[in-house]
Amino acid sequence: MCGIIGYIGDKCAADILISGLSHLEYRGYDSSGVALMHGSEIDIYKASGKLINLIEILKTKKAVTSISNIGIGHIRWATHGLPTTANAHPHTCTCKSLTLVHNGIIENYQELKEDLLKEGCIFRSETDTEIAAHLIASEYGKTLDLLEAMQNAVKKIKGAFAFCAIHKNEPDKIVVAKRNAPLVLGVGNGENYIASDIPAIIEYTKKAIYLSDYQVGVITKNDIKIYDEKGKLIPNKIEYMPFEAMAISKLGYKHFMIKEIHEQSDVVRNNLQGKLIEHNKPIKLDDFKLSSSDIKKLSRIQIIACGTSLHAGLVGKYIIEKYAGIPVDVEASSEYIYRETIADKNTLVIGISQSGETADTITAIKQVKEKKSHIAIITNRADSTMARLADSLIPVNAGIEVSVAATKSYMAQLISLYLLAIYLNEAKGIKEYKEEIARLKQELIELPNKIEALLENTSEIQRVAKKYSSYKNFIYIARGINLATALEGALKLKEISYINATGYGAGELKHGPIAMLDENMPVLAILNTGIVYDKVLSNCEEARARQAKLIGVTNYISEKDRALFDDLIMIPDASDILSPALNIIVLQLLAYYIAEYLGKDVDQPRNLAKSVTVE
Ligand code: F6R
Repeated sequence: MCGIIGYIGDKCAADILISGLSHLEYRGYDSSGVALMHGSEIDIYKASGKLINLIEILKTKKAVTSISNIGIGHIRWATHGLPTTANAHPHTCTCKSLTLVHNGIIENYQELKEDLLKEGCIFRSETDTEIAAHLIASEYGKTLDLLEAMQNAVKKIKGAFAFCAIHKNEPDKIVVAKRNAPLVLGVGNGENYIASDIPAIIEYTKKAIYLSDYQVGVITKNDIKIYDEKGKLIPNKIEYMPFEAMAISKLGYKHFMIKEIHEQSDVVRNNLQGKLIEHNKPIKLDDFKLSSSDIKKLSRIQIIACGTSLHAGLVGKYIIEKYAGIPVDVEASSEYIYRETIADKNTLVIGISQSGETADTITAIKQVKEKKSHIAIITNRADSTMARLADSLIPVNAGIEVSVAATKSYMAQLISLYLLAIYLNEAKGIKEYKEEIARLKQELIELPNKIEALLENTSEIQRVAKKYSSYKNFIYIARGINLATALEGALKLKEISYINATGYGAGELKHGPIAMLDENMPVLAILNTGIVYDKVLSNCEEARARQAKLIGVTNYISEKDRALFDDLIMIPDASDILSPALNIIVLQLLAYYIAEYLGKDVDQPRNLAKSVTVE
């Protein structure tokens, strides 16, 4: 979390930094700041709260800020110290010659602070970042060279960081360093850019250099020099950034979240393209690098992910076990890291991540990589850290997702998992399910049209959202493949409306949660025709008998059963196996409209960040 930005060139640095930070707000939004260099002076402006507060401050200082062409900026998601102005970045050393912004966590900051206090450093914040400012300045005192100072300082730092530093004595450069935190350099003509992520700079340049871990870089107006861990200058590898500036506009929608929900039919189409051609042709998955004979040797699959991606993994388990006959474990990356996991060369490990930068998942993947398992990464960011760790990189091509609550990336992950499950089935030459799979393929081809039909008329979902928006608690229930949908739908509601919603397997209701049911606890049940339909219906009866209000989400209901529900939301007809892809859209919309009705900050819910780069 946290976003950093830097600019050096001839344009107004303040404008570029602010525009860049506005595209990094998804990484954090509790405070922000910029440092602007003019001549050999550095002016710092900081504000707590949303970026707009910093913008207001800068407006009043336009005469001074507009003359600067070099600067660094930061948007914070607090880890050490409250989100106050004092704790906002940039931070400086004692004499304020050196100024720095940081994304990441310095693990040995206490230890470093003790030494720096002995040197007489004066601390002005509670952050770990300020330690780095003092440390680099202390090294600068020995070398009088900002590059060397940075190189020496990072050797002493344990933890994760992307740093951008400027120094009054070397006013023509920005020095950067990276370890386990993203940093991209935008290459311009007579100007250069630095950012935590592409959206911050895509409107200015499409050429990028991705800094690798342990590298340190010196950026001037006309040049970028990158040094490896040993201090050796390495050639610049320029790549083209994979997004268009258009992708980060709301295109007339009120929020990014609702825009992204509406993009899901195209997300499915993109994902199927070139992979699923016809229902009677095998799936083509060129991105998946295991040969058929290796696939036949697989003894287990482990899916590692967090949050929404973890829920996609639960759907993946269901379909891969069914169609490929391989046992699948799904585990939160944060738990996977801290136990003895069993994996070997016959294990396929699938990491799922929208951002490809989630620290827990990266650590888990790095850990298991040593066990020689094949690592497949399903991600929306083919340019991410996780993508670079992959043996098989499966990009989900959902396009950039700006809203903090994941929606279209979940859909894209689901589709990738359906394709993978069928691909594994076909690679193993399993004859069972042949007809069912042909039907599933046909249904996948028809899915975008069904999604469009669902999204065409959302008035019933809006009505239900308004009706239930004053409730403080919800229970979401489902069974089978839609249990993941219940968990994901409840997570969406929690995240953006701060209403307490919990997902349960419907069969578990009577083993405890039923104690909470009364007229103040609405129960949302997902029931799709299939093997668990009648069972979920019985669980609904149990809830009804406790006077809970019942909302049903279903593809079918008989006249007789209709009366059981207070409200019913119908989805287009779907097989049980593919129904998660339609049911989730109803739950995304329900969460969206409830949050919107309550006037919540839908795209930037409190306490969250889109890319969780701390463990
Ligand atoms: C929920 C949400 C989070 C993420 C989680 C993992 O809407 O977005 O739960 O799913 O932080 O992030 P990724 O998928 O980037 O690894």
